[in-house]
Amino acid sequence: MNADRRPAALVTGAAGGIGGAIVAALGDAGWDVLAVDLRPDPETGPGASFAADLTTREGNRAAVEHALDRFGRLDAIVANAGMQHVAPVADFPEDRWDALLALMLTSPFLLAKYAWPALAASGDGRIVAVASAHAQVASPFKSAYVSAKHGVLGLVKTLALEGAEQGITATAVCPGFVRTPLVEAQIGDQARAHGLPEEDVLRDVILAPHAVKRLLEPEEIAATVAFLLGPAGRAFTGVPVTMDLGWTAR
Ligand SMILES: NC(=O)c1ccc[n+]([C@@H]2O[C@H](COP(=O)([O-])OP(=O)(O)OC[C@H]3O[C@@H](n4cnc5c(N)ncnc54)[C@H](O)[C@@H]3O)[C@@H](O)[C@H]2O)c1
Repeated sequence: MNADRRPAALVTGAAGGIGGAIVAALGDAGWDVLAVDLRPDPETGPGASFAADLTTREGNRAAVEHALDRFGRLDAIVANAGMQHVAPVADFPEDRWDALLALMLTSPFLLAKYAWPALAASGDGRIVAVASAHAQVASPFKSAYVSAKHGVLGLVKTLALEGAEQGITATAVCPGFVRTPLVEAQIGDQARAHGLPEEDVLRDVILAPHAVKRLLEPEEIAATVAFLLGPAGRAFTGVPVTMDLGWTAR
């Protein structure tokens, strides 16, 4: 990054629980932020907002072009937008498979592709995908989510190797369950899929894999992303940055 000017980041899923916290943390750390979402929330934080459907090529291209038009540069991409669908594989709707893969695997690829020249010009470009513990382990009834998250970890490793000579780093933050609408919305689906009452789902399903029995808070993920985008994050590339309260220690 050129120290004479404010660095600029594009954050996707910025109207959501984790994305909103990331926009706020980067604003506090002195970044210009383009907050991209299907339905941007102007109240989310200090960033400028931009509406785009990131399941489409045009949406991803428009988001990068808008950031470059607005800031004249781009030093970081935070590919955070995501969604979930919980269903057994035999019943899994094929359109939902396509949409989850488009949003959580293809969008990070397209954002990296379109932003690549600007990230290289930055001299200190950063790509962070907000992946999941599900980039490293699986759970039943989440075939599309687990596949997309494993895929984005592979993408990040590849970007790290390709970006090494150009000063571009790439990492995948891999959280356990975080207190956001995405988790709250799946309690009913999980109850149906597991045949449990909704009140048992948080304890018996959602927190079951965590060694530490609590949800992460969005601000904890945001602080990690801000760290990875800051000077101390420079040594992290091509790796999952796991923050899963002991899930994958077993
Ligand atoms: N909440 C968790 O427990 C948890 C755990 C690990 C990883 N994650 C990951 O963190 C990321 C953020 O999740 P969250 O919990 O904040 O979810 P969230 O539902 O609060 O936010 C997701 C955001 O993505 C946006 N989005 C959805 N479809 C889009 C599209 N087509 N184009 C543009 N934007 C779109 C939504 O509008 C929403 O604002 C996701 O990638 C998720 O997989 C979440």
